[in-house]
Amino acid sequence: MMKILYAKDFQTMSRKAANIISAQVILKPNSVLGFATGSSPLGVYEQLIEWYRKGDLDFSAVRTVNLDEYYGLDKSSPQSYAYFMYQNFFKDINIDPNNTYLPDGTNLDAEAECCRYNQIIGDLGGIDLQLLGIGHNGHIGFNEPGEAFERETHCVALAEKTIEANKRFFDSVDEVPRKAYTMGIKNIMNARKILLIASGEGKAEILCRALTGPIAPSVPASVLQLHNDVTVVADAPALSGILEQSAHLVDKLYDWDMEH
Ligand code: GLP
Repeated sequence: MMKILYAKDFQTMSRKAANIISAQVILKPNSVLGFATGSSPLGVYEQLIEWYRKGDLDFSAVRTVNLDEYYGLDKSSPQSYAYFMYQNFFKDINIDPNNTYLPDGTNLDAEAECCRYNQIIGDLGGIDLQLLGIGHNGHIGFNEPGEAFERETHCVALAEKTIEANKRFFDSVDEVPRKAYTMGIKNIMNARKILLIASGEGKAEILCRALTGPIAPSVPASVLQLHNDVTVVADAPALSGILEQSAHLVDKLYDWDMEH
């Protein structure tokens, strides 16, 4: 089942998504949470930090697995996803660093690294709640268009569009790694719950194609239509395409900032 929740803006989207993650942690303190990087989840992490500081959340038993990591980057590199997670989230909450997992970009033996990462996810008992953003070409994690749905963690060659989109985090486009490790669609689909967030007009078209269009590897996120527990929280600009075409799919209830 897929639920699409409306949020009027980025901040409201972030709060709603953070509420869903909080509920998960409160109901199961040792949850395995799947995390994502990019601009979209930044507000979610900020909100969770705030609630942690207020004493409303305890991450001491939580385990985390991240979707992806650049091939070749060490966790001390400011562009690595390990660094991103530490700087934007982990350093400000009471999570045990030994309970936070990402693919190891410095392990250049792709087969060994992917095998190790799948093993970690398996040993943790699978993912309770996976947070996802969506790329402009419909990628989830770094599963680019055309990837087979049945793949587990693997090493990918990044699409030109992705390299372009992510160059903003680097000094120049030449510094963006051409390869990355990513959980496969199969790892993501095995998560018990999925929470997809999207913000901004730039995501409107791809979000509409992914959630209402045909299910096909050419739009990796479209596979989520087959998952039995997906919640999408998106802001008004990101939902504009869906609202135009299939407004009945969007649940506007409980948008506490909306005027009724
Ligand atoms: C990156 C990440 C994805 C992320 C996507 C969207 O390439 N690998 O996990 O969802 O881009 O990023 P943003 O949220 O910045 O638009």
